[in-house]
Amino acid sequence: MALLEVYKLNKRFGGLLAVNDVSFQVNPGQIKAVIGPNGAGKTTLFNMISGTFPATSGSVVFQDWDLKGKKPFQVAERGMARTFQNIKMFSGMTALENVMVGRHVQSSAGFFSSMFRMPWTWKEERAIRDKAMEFLALLEIEEFANTDASSLAFGQQRAVELARALALEPQLLLLDEPAAGLNIYETAEVGRLITKIRDLGITVLLVEHDMSLVMDISDEIVVLCFGEKIAEDSPQNIQQDPEVIKIYLGED
Ligand SMILES: Nc1ncnc2c1ncn2[C@@H]1O[C@H](COP(=O)(O)OP(=O)(O)OP(=O)(O)O)[C@@H](O)[C@H]1O
Ligand SMILES: [Mg+2]
Repeated sequence: MALLEVYKLNKRFGGLLAVNDVSFQVNPGQIKAVIGPNGAGKTTLFNMISGTFPATSGSVVFQDWDLKGKKPFQVAERGMARTFQNIKMFSGMTALENVMVGRHVQSSAGFFSSMFRMPWTWKEERAIRDKAMEFLALLEIEEFANTDASSLAFGQQRAVELARALALEPQLLLLDEPAAGLNIYETAEVGRLITKIRDLGITVLLVEHDMSLVMDISDEIVVLCFGEKIAEDSPQNIQQDPEVIKIYLGED
């Protein structure tokens, strides 16, 4: 059974249909990618899936649970974590503290009180810190635990961001352009980390422009163009799809 089911999803911004009748499923344990040219509707699709804003019509069902009317924190609590197209580190906080913030949505104290630095019990604080260290270690950046996150190299900031999302202990991880702004070595590294996350049993849905990364790590690919789904297949078949080749390479 599908972990995530997107059905006839639409998003209208005034006269623009940014997402047009898009349907697809994400099965447990897979890395699924959404690709398409700039403005195709990929981030808009993610925003509806994560509850950032409502769909104009259609449905998103996550673990048999209809997301209609749900707020992002409710979606997160239910087991869906996301990262954003632009890296968002909390500046003035260490890598460890950035991951601890992600963890607080799991704790009884909650995400918002953690943001406003309300007191937690020491025991809870300690448990959160230990768990956050585990995620930093998983992403191979524990040596930077006490470094100001915003001073790290982009590739390392990406890893902190992934650790922060994993701290929610999600079933599904949404990644919006995890390789954006990274050099080829950092991109390969992020690809390896995403595969490692998938191998832990966490399902991944990602938007990405770096085609070699997408083709390398994805189990299945959805192609969007002007809001519409024009293809959905394995990386091998997508690379040979005439319509996909046309939108990426032009008529010739
Ligand atoms: N809040 C908004 N209000 C109005 N139009 C919007 C809004 N957000 C996105 N759009 C428009 O919707 C379309 C899809 O945008 P979206 O950001 O989803 O594309 P994308 O596929 O993520 O592109 P990119 O690859 O550049 O990140 C674009 O034409 C964009 O200008
Ligand atoms: Mg986008």
